[in-house]
Amino acid sequence: MNIPQHISIIMDGNGRWARQQGKRRLFGHNAGVEAVRDATTYCAEIGVRYLSLFAFSEENWDRPADEVKGLMELLFKSMLNERETLLKNQVRFRVIGNTEHLSESLLAAIHKLEEETAAGTGLTLLVMLSYSGKWDILQAARRYAADCLAAGKPLPLDEPGFSGYLATAGIPDPDLLIRTSGEQRISNYMLWQCAYTEFYYTPVLWPDFRKTDLEAAIQSYNCRERRYGKVE
Ligand code: FPP
Repeated sequence: MNIPQHISIIMDGNGRWARQQGKRRLFGHNAGVEAVRDATTYCAEIGVRYLSLFAFSEENWDRPADEVKGLMELLFKSMLNERETLLKNQVRFRVIGNTEHLSESLLAAIHKLEEETAAGTGLTLLVMLSYSGKWDILQAARRYAADCLAAGKPLPLDEPGFSGYLATAGIPDPDLLIRTSGEQRISNYMLWQCAYTEFYYTPVLWPDFRKTDLEAAIQSYNCRERRYGKVE
């Protein structure tokens, strides 16, 4: 089997899952952590190099304040709980996104875990937090413009050069993007990076997503013919 180098997941359906159980939305997010653990373990086992998870979009800041607070607390708690396992399994942890809205304590915890796991030789787990594709392209354009200003002239720019300004610089583009819960859209995720990504949609709600579902997605990926706009 051809194992994708970079798998990305839009984890969707936590709220609906909670509603089905007659519970509050945060109950679904809590249950979603188990699916995060399962996907991370499986990807590490089969030799995926990068797993990126869309945990919180720039747009998600507009959700009710108690849900936003609950999600940030959940991330904080999960980082503490999973620290040992990440270290033991050589997983490198990184957060990517517009971190300027995050609390100082959360930012400090993120930086600490990033540093502690930086030498990991296995899977890189990328938590996309306060991330959006348009934000990423815009911040890249701004930083390029700033470099031009500093240089006092327009600097040459090609596609790999622009990728180097994105928040995902140095990370290969996703090979496979999975979205759970039946929705079939990209929702302002990695717009530049997903130019040639294979998409896989499943009706499974994120808290129910398990290893077998990931296996099915990888199997589907293996049946795709990636032509990158060329002919065979
Ligand atoms: C989408 O479901 C899910 C989120 C916005 C949050 C995902 C977060 C986690 C699984 C928790 C922790 C993450 C890590 C990395 C430890 P939704 O709320 O949009 O569901 P709905 O569409 O059914 O309302």
